[in-house]
Amino acid sequence: MGGSVGRLSLTLVILAGIGLASQPVWPADPGDDEIGQVLTPKEDDTPALRQFKETGKNPYNKEPHAIEAGFKLARAVACTHCHAGDLSGLIGPSLTTGSWRYQKNGTDKGMFQTLYFGTSAGMAAWGKLGSLTPDEILKIIAFVRSKYRGDPRNATWE
Ligand code: HEC
Repeated sequence: MGGSVGRLSLTLVILAGIGLASQPVWPADPGDDEIGQVLTPKEDDTPALRQFKETGKNPYNKEPHAIEAGFKLARAVACTHCHAGDLSGLIGPSLTTGSWRYQKNGTDKGMFQTLYFGTSAGMAAWGKLGSLTPDEILKIIAFVRSKYRGDPRNATWE
């Protein structure tokens, strides 16, 4: 009797462990299908989002109003707590130098994916979890790009 109860609780511990271990898998590595679905035009897309889906470029970059809105959003969801107010880096890496942990962040489409789906080592899946709309993500990206302090010739997203 005692033995089977022991085995049962061991099984439960293992199952709980598998549940926890498998959690970060989806945000870190969205499949092409999932990315394609998110980037498919939808009826209620804002004009900027529609344009982004067609071109892969963020129309809000260099738009002062969008950058200001992006800054407010970045403060509201705590990007600036982890990356610093000027995005020069704290807990999270600097976002101002153009040198990336994940190469894809050198394009707007790539950074959109990072912010939508998260990473396996520290970034939440803001879009997928519903904390930010795709249009809000574009405004935050415009704010991030506005803080770039590297050589303008290396601004790979332009
Ligand atoms: C809880 C702290 C935290 C918050 C909040 C946070 N980040 Fe991060 N961020 C990190 C960490 C840690 C990494 C490194 C992740 C990794 O290596 O997988 C990271 C990585 C990134 C990267 C990739 C950088 C690279 O070099 O490739 C970008 C872009 C980014 N964050 C932008 C943002 C934005 C925009 C927000 C707000 C929507 C945000 N982060 C909120 C901690 C945070």
